[in-house]
Amino acid sequence: MSDTLGMATQLAGNAVRFGWYSGLNWLLARESRRLAPRPRYRPQAPVPSEAELMADVRALFLADAAAVRDGLYPPEEPAAGLARHLRDVRAMFADLPSTLERRQTEDTLSAAQHTDAEDLPDYYAQDFHFQTGGYLSTDSARLYDVQVETLFYGAAGAMRRAGLKPIAAVLRGRDQRRCALLDVACGTGRFLREVRLAYPGLPMTGLDLSQAYLDEAQRHLDGLRPATLLRANAEAIPLPDASQDIVTSVFLFHELPGEVRRRVTAEVARVLKPGGLFVFIDSLQMGDRPGWDGLLEAFPVRFHEPYFAHYATDDLDAMFAAAGLAAEETALAFLSKVMARRKA
Ligand SMILES: C[S@@+](CC[C@H](N)C(=O)[O-])C[C@H]1O[C@@H](n2cnc3c(N)ncnc32)[C@H](O)[C@@H]1O
Repeated sequence: MSDTLGMATQLAGNAVRFGWYSGLNWLLARESRRLAPRPRYRPQAPVPSEAELMADVRALFLADAAAVRDGLYPPEEPAAGLARHLRDVRAMFADLPSTLERRQTEDTLSAAQHTDAEDLPDYYAQDFHFQTGGYLSTDSARLYDVQVETLFYGAAGAMRRAGLKPIAAVLRGRDQRRCALLDVACGTGRFLREVRLAYPGLPMTGLDLSQAYLDEAQRHLDGLRPATLLRANAEAIPLPDASQDIVTSVFLFHELPGEVRRRVTAEVARVLKPGGLFVFIDSLQMGDRPGWDGLLEAFPVRFHEPYFAHYATDDLDAMFAAAGLAAEETALAFLSKVMARRKA
């Protein structure tokens, strides 16, 4: 049955989110210029006009609403906990001077001081996005979602939900209770929550290296059927061969060195069942939207993203194919792309 009211609710929610986070994005940029004035980085490659960006966000929101209308997933609930959200927004602004100082001094090792950093790989124990504590502190885990939504004008949720489409195609007509899904680098559990709302009976596992982020994921799944959350490295997934029907990974691969990207891909292929689905969501790459390459050039300059430039030109198709993950579908979703791949 077509859910027209759900579609309208989704569109309205996205419009409100877009307005709110665009405002925060603007304020954060203004505060950054005031606190740490510096010449604006001018990329060599072209950047899209504001109108092009907005047209693309609109297309993403329309596709998101159409998916709700078609019953792929329920409309997003109104934001819970306004008081906590406002506290997180305030904390994001309060943390800005430290973030800017780290950008100025190029000191990105506060994560390496954390007690949890001892056994972690060097590529991981650094301050991604210049955020205090990298991925290791409780404060970073608390601020992550509001920071990401501010960066993406409130469209991060809709970009993640674009990954629910290939999942729906695979689960259609199957008993979800007998299938298994693993989200690699689940972070604060935003994607797991979306999957849980769409598939209440699906056994799910989330894996991440950060205990602080896993704790936040647990919080986001409160009141829903639980998922198994594992603190582990995606380079050595502690699950048996051929145990998963679906593996997903959202916004991870651009944060990995090239050789680690390949090890994680091999692990994804190992734990998938034959015929299993891999859903990859991450940033656009160079050439995906030719007039937008300047954004991808500027991103790692503004935020500490040491492996992004390599990621942006990496041959992901060849990497997946070499691991036995065959091309099924690739779709662009605003600043991200969704690649569905099948294990032979
Ligand atoms: C940009 S965040 C993405 C989080 C989440 N998937 C999302 O949609 O927002 C990257 C995540 O990858 C995790 N991560 C990075 N390298 C990892 C590794 N080798 N093994 C497991 N998790 C890793 C980080 O702890 C962090 O939670």
